Amino acid sequence: MTASSRKIFVTNALPYANGDIHLGHLVGYIQADVWVRFQRMCGNTVHYVCADDTHGTPVMLRAEKEGMSPETLINRVHGEHLRDFTDFGVAFDNYHSTHSPENRAYAEDIYKKLREAGMIETRSIEQFYDPVKQMFLPDRFIKGECPKCGAKDQYGDSCEVCGAAYTPTELKNPYSAVSGATPEMRSSEHYFFRLSDEKAVAFLREWTQATNADGSRRMPPEASNKMREWIGEVGENKLSDWDISRDAPYFGFEIPGAPGKFFYVWLDAPIGYLASFLNYAGRVGIDVADFIDPEKAAAAGTEMVHFIGKDILYFHALFWPAMLKFAGYRTPNFLNVNGFLTVDGAKMSKSRGTFITARSFLDHKLNPEWLRYYFAAKLNSNIEDLDLSLDDFVAKVNSDLVGKFINIASRCAGFITKRFEGKLAASDAAALDAFHAPETLAAVSRAYNNRDYSTALREVMRLADLANVYVNDQKPWELAKDPAQVERLHQACSTALNQFRALTILLKPVLPALAAQVEAFFGVSPFIWNDLDKPLPAGHAIQQYAHLMTRIERKQIDALVEANKQTLGTVEAKPAEAADTAKTTAKKTEAPAKKAPVEEEAAPAEISIDDFSKVDLRIAKIVAAEHVEGAAKLIKLQLDIGEERPRQVFAGIKSAYDPALLVGRLTVMVANLAPRKMKFGLSEGMVLAASDASGEVPGLFILSPDAGATPGMRVK
Ligand code: 2FM
Ligand code: ZN
Repeated sequence: MTASSRKIFVTNALPYANGDIHLGHLVGYIQADVWVRFQRMCGNTVHYVCADDTHGTPVMLRAEKEGMSPETLINRVHGEHLRDFTDFGVAFDNYHSTHSPENRAYAEDIYKKLREAGMIETRSIEQFYDPVKQMFLPDRFIKGECPKCGAKDQYGDSCEVCGAAYTPTELKNPYSAVSGATPEMRSSEHYFFRLSDEKAVAFLREWTQATNADGSRRMPPEASNKMREWIGEVGENKLSDWDISRDAPYFGFEIPGAPGKFFYVWLDAPIGYLASFLNYAGRVGIDVADFIDPEKAAAAGTEMVHFIGKDILYFHALFWPAMLKFAGYRTPNFLNVNGFLTVDGAKMSKSRGTFITARSFLDHKLNPEWLRYYFAAKLNSNIEDLDLSLDDFVAKVNSDLVGKFINIASRCAGFITKRFEGKLAASDAAALDAFHAPETLAAVSRAYNNRDYSTALREVMRLADLANVYVNDQKPWELAKDPAQVERLHQACSTALNQFRALTILLKPVLPALAAQVEAFFGVSPFIWNDLDKPLPAGHAIQQYAHLMTRIERKQIDALVEANKQTLGTVEAKPAEAADTAKTTAKKTEAPAKKAPVEEEAAPAEISIDDFSKVDLRIAKIVAAEHVEGAAKLIKLQLDIGEERPRQVFAGIKSAYDPALLVGRLTVMVANLAPRKMKFGLSEGMVLAASDASGEVPGLFILSPDAGATPGMRVK
């Protein structure tokens, strides 16, 4: 780490604990993850955290409906969310929960300091009350007829038919969406954060328009402009105090000294950023004060960056900095704001099957890095909606990633292995110039740093085009036929592989799993940005090339859309927590889908016998098996397949097997899978196991041969 390297605390918006992660969520998570990976490749220190947003009425009611405690529900969802993010390569340092001791401690501390600063006051308010359920009703849980157009069954904050916004008291014939009862007006004492106080208004007017000490922006220009509109000009105070309490019954933290009153979910949600960070810092020995205390943070030069969606800008650009400021905490350096996801030009829709969950995407064997690439190729630093055009997705991934990028390696690597004992020759320096040119690298680097990934990837694809022109000009497949051209063949393939290596480094923030495979192929340590300074030299040994990425078939996408359509009818409306004190940001999201019903695993495309015979299956004897520290799913196996030494394989079978009971067993392994460098060591093959894709039959089942088979026998 150089003296000038950055120290950045990065967060993503915390997803609600009452719904599945869907592709719309993933835009912001992928955007942040790419940025974090890029910063780290450049030698900067990044602490990247997130958590589930667990509190509020929707979680409480859903848990009740599912016949479990809110704690049980949020624990289950926490596991599902973390698995989804991990499988999409979104690698948080910590994935915590707002229902945690750290969050309670921070929420109480911030509240106490706001009180001491005179920023909290209580007031009695009138609200709809459900006499059957005996609870006050958030706006989204009151339904009735739209006061403007008369449409039935509209929510208490806005009409989905005519778009009108109103208060629940304006609804005609209101009823409780929880019990169906006619709600009554009741008064109750609420706690308010005094956002309309002139100190808060003056602070926000300055904070939302000014830059950081180093001249960098605090939010995109569109966001600052929006804030100017929301705050109003001097003398024209448009901000209202913010209601931060809710009455019991409520799933959340009780307000200290106020029995029966709870912090509103949006009060402790962003505090969850700090809580997740504290939980992580304690484990790895970071002093949180350097990131949270204003003086220490300024002295240490640390940064705090939040990635959020445009629907929650109000909370992050007004409430959150004001809370932090008046409680004596550091304020954010930057809010990155992404737009919404549309699919084929329209809002994601359950009936069209375009409300696609992250899990169903994976279950349909779609490569998550295809989506990372597609999103990144369309993302820039503006608050724009991003359209996932399904035809374009297929075309772009196949053409850019498979056709232009992977193709370079697949056309050249085999010659190096077969003809030159896997060793590179010196590359043609002129053909590599563009790939290491300082101005090109600076342009890509600047674009990544500014979150303008579309520009970065356009530049990378321009280089990929150059590499393809080089390979097409050299024609290694023809050189290979002429013994007089052997040196040229060696140089051309080595040069092309170095071009491919440079492209991989440039793409690594977006395609981390693929980059790890390429690192293993080149037999090198994880790529960093500085590796772009020089190519691999003559004599460098590469590994056997194994195909790195397949093409997408349109029928895979059709099956995915079809499967997501089937969730219709099993989905019940589950309102997101109402942004009920920030009308300007009232969310009109579709309810998140319930867990998809049983889905058939898409049958893989037909293959020829030649394709099948490329897979070297061997009988393997498990000679050792042990747990892997820090790996939730893996068992480390040593497999004897009749070679000099056993193969080390990491198998994701921990949930189903006790290592001690595996030792001595015979099973079947793929012996010619390219070795894969994992966090825990090299995995030199794969053990085969059966599982039921529908999840109806739980468990994993490794294969066993009949008696008589011995280690090393080929399985055909
Ligand atoms: O809108 C949402 O999905 C919220 N759960 C985001 C919370 S972000 C942060 F404030 F916690
Ligand atoms: Zn209406």
